Amino acid sequence: MDLFEYQARDLFAKHDVPVLPGEVIDTPEAAREVTERLGGRAVVKAQVKTGGRGKAGGVKLASDPDDAVDKAGQILGMDIKGHTVHKVMLAQTADIVDEYYVSFLLDRTNRTFLAMASVEGGVDIEEVAATKPEALAKIPVDAIEGVTEAKAREIVEAARFPAEIADQVVSILQQLWAAFIAEDALLVEVNPLVKTGDGRIIALDAKVSLDANAEFRQPDHAALEDKAAADPLEAAAKAKGLNYVKLDGQVGIIGNGAGLVMSTLDVVAYAGEAHGNVKPANFLDIGGGASAEVMANGLEIILGDPDVTSVFVNVFGGITACDAVANGIVQALQLLKSKGEDVTKPLVVRLDGNNAELGRKILTDADHPLVQQVDTMDGAADKAAELAAK
Ligand SMILES: Nc1ncnc2c1ncn2[C@@H]1O[C@H](COP(=O)(O)OP(=O)(O)OP(=O)(O)O)[C@@H](O)[C@H]1O
Ligand SMILES: [Mg+2]
Repeated sequence: MDLFEYQARDLFAKHDVPVLPGEVIDTPEAAREVTERLGGRAVVKAQVKTGGRGKAGGVKLASDPDDAVDKAGQILGMDIKGHTVHKVMLAQTADIVDEYYVSFLLDRTNRTFLAMASVEGGVDIEEVAATKPEALAKIPVDAIEGVTEAKAREIVEAARFPAEIADQVVSILQQLWAAFIAEDALLVEVNPLVKTGDGRIIALDAKVSLDANAEFRQPDHAALEDKAAADPLEAAAKAKGLNYVKLDGQVGIIGNGAGLVMSTLDVVAYAGEAHGNVKPANFLDIGGGASAEVMANGLEIILGDPDVTSVFVNVFGGITACDAVANGIVQALQLLKSKGEDVTKPLVVRLDGNNAELGRKILTDADHPLVQQVDTMDGAADKAAELAAK
């Protein structure tokens, strides 16, 4: 989960990384009072989860409270790379002498953590990385050892930070690492880390991405979720404990096992080419023990998607045998009917694997008018795509 800058800044502050005071607002008028509180001047910063805000005009200096209202008015509602600005952060202004870059991230390729640092910070670190790779130090960080003082010094030396600020940067790197570990982050990035006129080092920008796999041990993180931006179907699925991702096609997909569902998406996308380019509408893995309730929950989410015009239920019976899944489907359809959410879209079911024949018989006997069975995955994908295109 990516955080907004103001949320990332709060996490930094919690772990003693030096940041400037700031407040978040969502109306231009509110800027006046906040700017007064911040000392009469402020930087107005768009809060969107994308980079390059400054270049897009989403970071502006306001010289007085009236100007802040004006600048907030310009930035609120702005579109930055497809993200609408709903909030701005007003931050105290810094007297910047120099801008640097530091980050910690999970380096999946090398199966370790990585520190990156550069004295050429500011807006375009990607540009530095591409054109002057020698100016961006990359130092692996051992997961067990972490960023000791010695490791922090190694990073500071590799990036050639000036001697007079080395000690400050060393502490900040250790605090930043503490935040990275304590919050189960995948990325913490400061661009720019600045030196001010009075020689202080401060994080002026904050970017944090949290590891969703650590949610169970980070109870505070749920509050950081941007509920307004979440897809309503994804939010409903999450509330039901389902593994669901909304896609932009028309064929609703339910399968058991993430690998099977992934290949189902591929097969449906391929089959869809022959039927006016219909595509999968979602990823939904109902897992191994597909009970009637889980199946009903899954169907409810998928049928609630207005883009869906047909549904493909693709099940490979394993520990949970096909007869149990077939009973689950039959009961799910009854459950939905009793809730007044009768199925109105065609369902194509493919059952294979453990007890497939028994499962197919159960569905045949149930004889639901909108359910049809196809025995092969390719055949069922083609049928579902054909029905979706109608
Ligand atoms: N509080 C501040 N006081 C003075 N100048 C600031 C302040 N915050 C930001 N700036 C200036 O604005 C520039 C851009 O700000 P910032 O890094 O927050 O946004 P950005 O880099 O454009 O956005 P992103 O990180 O999303 O790409 C900084 O490099 C800095 O020069
Ligand atoms: Mg930045």
